[in-house]
Amino acid sequence: MRSQNNIVAIASGKGGVGKTWLAIALARALAASGQRVLLFDGDLGLANIDVQLGLSPRHDIADILAGRVAAQDAVACHAQGFDILAGRSGNAALASLPETMLSALASIPALLADRYDTVLLDLAAGMDATMRRLASAAGAMLLVATGEPTSLTDAYAVLKRLARECPALEPAVVVNMAGSLAAGRATHATLARAAAQFLARRPPLAGIVRRDPAVPAAIRRQALVPANSLASEDATALANAWLAPSARRGKELHLAGG
Ligand SMILES: Nc1ncnc2c1ncn2[C@@H]1O[C@H](COP(=O)(O)OP(=O)(O)OP(=O)(O)O)[C@@H](O)[C@H]1O
Ligand SMILES: [Mg+2]
Repeated sequence: MRSQNNIVAIASGKGGVGKTWLAIALARALAASGQRVLLFDGDLGLANIDVQLGLSPRHDIADILAGRVAAQDAVACHAQGFDILAGRSGNAALASLPETMLSALASIPALLADRYDTVLLDLAAGMDATMRRLASAAGAMLLVATGEPTSLTDAYAVLKRLARECPALEPAVVVNMAGSLAAGRATHATLARAAAQFLARRPPLAGIVRRDPAVPAAIRRQALVPANSLASEDATALANAWLAPSARRGKELHLAGG
């Protein structure tokens, strides 16, 4: 399975930490900076990107897997300038795919990646088989956590399992719903300390997104969070610092240099 550097998985241990919202905010920020972006709903079977955005795309991943439509024809365009490949909410069959279908599913991001600067994979929480197969298609991962002890414990569990099963994928941490930037840095430091001590890993801090009442308010309206809200500005800063071409080049050079 070929993984590509422009495919970025968005994962978490605990659910409900803001992966889907963040994936949408990053897609919008990258599109605004001129990138061609695909937002891939890899949390199959649950109500996700299309629901948060109030869209009803004509096609979804189930149509691709059933051979009803080619991958590129299942993609829908969002008015904010990025593309979306929808999962299908309420489709329990998609949530537990057999092995052959998992392989087919995991090959879809790479089929589309050449058409985009960045493909963002919004994954299910935890590390079930579907999540692990989709994550193996990604060249990078953002691991989203909040300061809650359960979120941190579950994020650590994901780091531990990834260190064993996907050692090449070195996740960077996003602290979401932080009370302040200082609180976000402290949350990252706690997780990084445990990873350094027990896993010999030092997951870098990709960014901090502060808690912002504009996020749940917009999601309730199935609308985008205003771009000038606190959380959107933090997400844009994260996109520029971590996913802009110059930031990626820097990381590749860094990796190449050891
Ligand atoms: N920065 C933030 N400030 C305030 N609320 C937030 C923030 N980010 C996300 N939320 C809220 O957290 C809730 C969960 O968000 P979201 O659905 O994106 O999480 P998720 O990690 O994708 O969940 P799941 O694991 O179920 O897929 C939403 O109600 C959203 O409004
Ligand atoms: Mg989600």
